[in-house]
Amino acid sequence: MRPNVMNLRKKMAEVVEQHGEWTAMGIKITDDLSTLEPMPVDRRLSRITQVLADLLPKPLAQSRILDLACAEGHYAIECALHGAEVVAIEGRDANLAKVRFVKDALGLDRLSLHQDDVRHLSREKYGLFDVVICSGILYHLDAPDVFQFAKRVAEVCRGFAIIDTQIALLDKVSQQFEGREYWGVYYTEHASDAPPTERLRDLWASIDNTKSFWMTRPSLCNLLREIGFTTVMECHIPSFLNLPRDRITLVAIKGRRAPIVSSPPTDSLEFEPWPESPPTEPINPCNDPRIELKNELKVLIPGVVRRPLAEFKRWIRSHRAAGPAGPWEWREPWRRR
Ligand SMILES: C[S@@+](CC[C@H](N)C(=O)[O-])C[C@H]1O[C@@H](n2cnc3c(N)ncnc32)[C@H](O)[C@@H]1O
Repeated sequence: MRPNVMNLRKKMAEVVEQHGEWTAMGIKITDDLSTLEPMPVDRRLSRITQVLADLLPKPLAQSRILDLACAEGHYAIECALHGAEVVAIEGRDANLAKVRFVKDALGLDRLSLHQDDVRHLSREKYGLFDVVICSGILYHLDAPDVFQFAKRVAEVCRGFAIIDTQIALLDKVSQQFEGREYWGVYYTEHASDAPPTERLRDLWASIDNTKSFWMTRPSLCNLLREIGFTTVMECHIPSFLNLPRDRITLVAIKGRRAPIVSSPPTDSLEFEPWPESPPTEPINPCNDPRIELKNELKVLIPGVVRRPLAEFKRWIRSHRAAGPAGPWEWREPWRRR
């Protein structure tokens, strides 16, 4: 039987007394009680829940979900409310106490809570999951831990991982992992002389490491491919308008390489790692901002000059050695149309 609202309020006050107010996650307990008032909108929760609804091949109630570094546990709790078997891992007792309060208040028996360092994640310890929610944690780990951790995420994942993370916009420093190079920047988590108690007090930061290694988008995508994800997609809908440019949501699917029977050369394609600075891809001329000026200039040149000039340009193009192809093997096909 669930405790009544008065008891819940009392218990919640005890949690707040001991660990402080809820910091971000507004979770409804009853019609009259929630962890934050007024209840904030959580666009990340909406994104994660929609991705689960759209991509899970079976109902949530038949799925096993892992929520890593769950903080106040909103994503884990939402999944458990839909009937999923959920494992939530969080390093800080102060955060986990709040998840425990909501779990008990809502009677979420299929939600199990573990105070653990996500760097200890393993298949032996936690088993396999249909979905791994890896939100807000990758960028709190330093190299090489971040690589080992990502590898463990892939190991425990039998479906897909939702990776919501900060990325580096600069390729300033590089780190090696299993023979590959990954680029990014360092982010300072704590002052190097900050004592452990002070580090723990910063409820949303790394639990001990003083700096973290943030990967660039190309490096992160390459890493996800190397550790066993076969498709990596970026989420744009549900939208998240005021999200900083260096925060992204990726969905990484743990599949198998799809054989291509109708095209042996395509079937034998090797993986091409994304370069840090993508090559300047050919674009359709209608997207070239200079096109209007070009068209205006064109009409100023008399036809008797323009036509032979165009003919000459066509001749040059047809005799030019085929240059390096773009990422989609395009050779400006629109010019021939
Ligand atoms: C930025 S918050 C993200 C919370 C939540 N997952 C989200 O996406 O909103 C980072 C969380 O990771 C936890 N954390 C940081 N390093 C950790 C580690 N090595 N092991 C377990 N939890 C960790 C922090 O205590 C904090 O709750």
